[in-house]
Amino acid sequence: MNKLTDTYTLKNGVQIPCIGYGTWQTPDGATARDSVKCALECGYRHIDTAAAYGNESSVGEGIRLSGVKREDIFVTTKHWIADRGYDKTILACEKSLKELGMDYVDLYLIHWPCVAKISENWAEINADTWRGFEKLYKDGKIRAIGVSNFLPSHLEALKKVCEIAPMVNQIEHHPGYYQKEVVDYCQANDMLVQAWSPLGCGAVLKDPTVNAIAEKYNKTAAHICIRYAMERNILPLPKSVTPSRIADNTKVFDFTLAPEDLATLDAMPKTGYSGYYPDEAPADAL
Ligand code: A2P
Repeated sequence: MNKLTDTYTLKNGVQIPCIGYGTWQTPDGATARDSVKCALECGYRHIDTAAAYGNESSVGEGIRLSGVKREDIFVTTKHWIADRGYDKTILACEKSLKELGMDYVDLYLIHWPCVAKISENWAEINADTWRGFEKLYKDGKIRAIGVSNFLPSHLEALKKVCEIAPMVNQIEHHPGYYQKEVVDYCQANDMLVQAWSPLGCGAVLKDPTVNAIAEKYNKTAAHICIRYAMERNILPLPKSVTPSRIADNTKVFDFTLAPEDLATLDAMPKTGYSGYYPDEAPADAL
């Protein structure tokens, strides 16, 4: 990958730009609108939002204001836990499209799996939601379908019943929280891994190990975190509402991390972890 517009190819052939602009925790209204517009002006062509972020309409507005053609932008949104099940899924997607002001999205994700702590029928509930995703995909409302925060056990259960396998799994991933088992499972099953909070919500940027590596490469801690994901073909979704940081976070194509530095980052103790582990702290219980 050499620039923001370089792409990975999902297993259905859809191209997805290699860094996405994240909008989790970006307030709705002018902040979301202006920061999305700024990101597009800085060259990002991949925007990630979610129904639960409450900012889809401002994200859509920012996209339109940027003047960049819709077909040149890859837009992801996510289905929320309150909308589980086939019928609700169809309605939830229609609502997201309306909020975004779009007639399709490029990628739609199940935001959180239903898990055993929430319902003994968790696998069936996920399968029902997924059938809705397959229908929306076949109807051309979404160009690609995937999941978020799914562990291998959830993916194995879905695999047994699905017609179309998930193309993406978006998980928390950053130095200090690798989730190697999930990454390895997804990559072995031809599922692109995306990293939410690749900067550990900003907390990892203060870490001395990350900063020592940044100094060695004459880069910032944020660059090291973004590159950390990229080195393993994981697609990072850095979030910032600060124009200078939005621009700076794109400067990650002029260096690579040496294996020993990657190993050091892999071995970091848990740092910047959100605390959201799907099986132990399910989204429904947050
Ligand atoms: P802000 O949005 O105020 O600019 P993550 O992507 O891991 O969720 O991290 C997002 C957090 O990291 C936000 O608080 C964001 O702040 C901060 N952030 C993003 N980019 C940078 C950067 N280049 N330098 C310092 N902080 C950053």
